[in-house]
Amino acid sequence: MKSSIDVSVAIDPEPLHPLPKTQYGHFIEHLGRCIKGGIWAEGESDDMFLGGIRRELVDAMKSINPALIRYPGGCFADGYYWKDGIGPREKRPVRRNRAWAKLGKRLGPVENNRFGTDEFLQLCEELGAEPQLTVNVGSGTVEEAVAWVEYCNGAKDSRWGAERARNGHKDPYGVKYWFIGNEIFGWHEIGHQSPPQYVKTFNEYARAMRKVDPDIKLIGCGTFFPTGKRTDINPTVLKGAGEEMDYLSIHMYAPSLYILRHHWRYQVRRQAGSPSRKIYYDIIGSIKVVEEFVEQCAKDVRIHSPSGKKVPLSFDEWNLWFAFFNDMFQANYNVRDGLWVAGMLNMFHRYAPDMPLANIAQMVNCLGIISSTRRGTFLTPSAMVFKIYTEHAGDELLQSRVDGPAIPHETGLPVLDVSATRSRDKVSLFAVNLHYDTEVVTTLILKGLDIDPGAAIIEMSHENPVQYNTFLKPDEVRIRERSETIQVTREGTGSSFKMRLAPHSLTCLELKVKDA
Ligand code: AHR
Repeated sequence: MKSSIDVSVAIDPEPLHPLPKTQYGHFIEHLGRCIKGGIWAEGESDDMFLGGIRRELVDAMKSINPALIRYPGGCFADGYYWKDGIGPREKRPVRRNRAWAKLGKRLGPVENNRFGTDEFLQLCEELGAEPQLTVNVGSGTVEEAVAWVEYCNGAKDSRWGAERARNGHKDPYGVKYWFIGNEIFGWHEIGHQSPPQYVKTFNEYARAMRKVDPDIKLIGCGTFFPTGKRTDINPTVLKGAGEEMDYLSIHMYAPSLYILRHHWRYQVRRQAGSPSRKIYYDIIGSIKVVEEFVEQCAKDVRIHSPSGKKVPLSFDEWNLWFAFFNDMFQANYNVRDGLWVAGMLNMFHRYAPDMPLANIAQMVNCLGIISSTRRGTFLTPSAMVFKIYTEHAGDELLQSRVDGPAIPHETGLPVLDVSATRSRDKVSLFAVNLHYDTEVVTTLILKGLDIDPGAAIIEMSHENPVQYNTFLKPDEVRIRERSETIQVTREGTGSSFKMRLAPHSLTCLELKVKDA
């Protein structure tokens, strides 16, 4: 086995396109232990945010700088009546979780509605996140959706704005992003519809909701869990409802075929955490499968959006999902999974003009990149990756060209996955060494950029590629930061230097451009 692999990376100085922070979005749903027992843990102590959220969880959520948070579902949204979740908590009705109770009490616990619209929106205010709400299309009505927009955004003398003011929030929340239904074409979704039916529904909801607030941005259902068979969804929806639509929602979980087919293998034998190289590369390799899905959807948008308009993508559910039931109750993600997230974010940067919105599914416990129960709260490596990107990524993408070998997997992904960004005098490089056990020695060439030798280096790694954090060892995997003086060689107007990148690691290198 080679002791190291040589890779060169050339970076151009001119920005390719802006990078919206809205690609670093999150999602919470009344499902499994996400809200009940996770985000909402009323009664656990006397000092809780809004009377029900662990302070340490608020801090953990804040630490990953969520740009967007989508709520209340997911599938839950198409069975949810938002009016159940407002007003004095002790008066709110207790309901069956219509979407998830059929899969048992763990996934669909009885819904006491104590975390509802105001709790969600005030949590977003506290976190500095832009909220996104999904209206109920599957079993709700246009009138209910319109009233919800008015409750959130209407003046305090409007019918529902006054109700909001009575519930303690005089000023409108100004919720900008609204989803009209969720995965509405799936047999699993409450009130599912065919694409032509949904076109009518979407247009009806959109026109009515915009009468209350013309500034809202509307997100329509597109394709999800690609089976390769439903190529009709995006074109039908874009052609029929594209004029009224601001974004097209797409969903995908990876390594997708494993979710059901290999459920037993992952859940019972717990191979998701196995040190097997084969599984490591299958999972890492699925970055390519997701990229192919995004590329196909981006093509749909370019071809089928109404003339003179492009309806960009909102990739509002994406993540690794191994064991169908267990992960929906309480997931945990390891170093490998964090590297997969970094590969995804690098890919999202490349697709930013086509896909300005994205939400990892989900944020807490249920498929959650943060774990929080009465036993404690910790960031998984996937959440650490969000922390690193949101703290260090610049506003624009720079072109980077990687010259090096591929990982030993049929996808042929390059060993080094890179994204380079810039904000004024700051260049940040996100380099993911995807190799299971070999170090990468990289030569970085920054064309036309004279850089300062003082660099900040931020790393997420561990000697064990499948190391998890746990309630007992919440910091076993952690982010390490250091300052280093690098040996820069001047190359004409540019600079170059060498760096060693540990096996299965993410390194963010923050550089300062001289005289920028
Ligand atoms: O994120 C879990 C579920 O997966 C969501 O509710 C649904 O939209 C998707 O199928």
